[in-house]
Amino acid sequence: MSVFAVVTAAGSGQRLGADMPKALVPLEGRTLVERAVEGVQLVGVDGIIVTAPESHLTQFETMFASDPTVLVVPGGSVRQLSVYNALQQLPALAKRLGTPLDNTTPILIHDAARCLTPSKVINGVIDALRGGLTAVIPALPVTDTQKIVEEGPTSGIEKVAGQVDRSLLRAVQTPQGFHWHTISNAHRAGFERLQNTGVEATDDAGLVEALGGDVHITSGSPLSMKITTKIDLVVASQLLTRKDLMESLLDS
Ligand code: C5P
Repeated sequence: MSVFAVVTAAGSGQRLGADMPKALVPLEGRTLVERAVEGVQLVGVDGIIVTAPESHLTQFETMFASDPTVLVVPGGSVRQLSVYNALQQLPALAKRLGTPLDNTTPILIHDAARCLTPSKVINGVIDALRGGLTAVIPALPVTDTQKIVEEGPTSGIEKVAGQVDRSLLRAVQTPQGFHWHTISNAHRAGFERLQNTGVEATDDAGLVEALGGDVHITSGSPLSMKITTKIDLVVASQLLTRKDLMESLLDS
């Protein structure tokens, strides 16, 4: 049974402070996007669409030129539009590869920024989709106490307005997985909503939820951390060089 993936890599990486798109930043000698693509290939994904910043399209295309299972497409102005663009190209890629794409084919949508995601997490999502669930996201329980805030008396100081029961919360990671029918419908509706109202979803499952669809949760991993800031990059690099630490996290 076939599986496809979209790897989102069209972000600017401003918060990382690098002078290049975040996905091209090297982590122990390999770029984040190469590591993320390899991560989904390791579990046997048949075809992958990578979203790339328009400004660096050629660089991304060159990077994956020798691999016919990877198609690079230009990203949009926001993540939702990047994924929408990628999904539009999926039937053509499946046709070119001669791999079936039907209503229940699992589609993974994965952030290049989560390039250390273990195979166990990705397989957990695929297995749940093959078991019949239509939208599955990996997540971890929240360990910090969570507060709701409002504007404070002076700039830079907020006021606590309430507390959320953290046992009800989950920190969501990627890859988020969907049946093809579910995600193509959700993104089409999300695209229209974005055009008409400007309302943007920060994740793909949110688009399914907006249509009243069920979304289920599988186990995430601390290794699926999202590399956003310089500190994250240092932590990720340390993790890669500390085999013992990686192994203990892979087991956790
Ligand atoms: O900006 P943020 O870290 O939330 O982005 C999450 C993922 O979405 C990243 O992998 C980034 O490259 C990707 N992205 C994209 N197109 C955009 C913005 C972000 O593919 N326009």
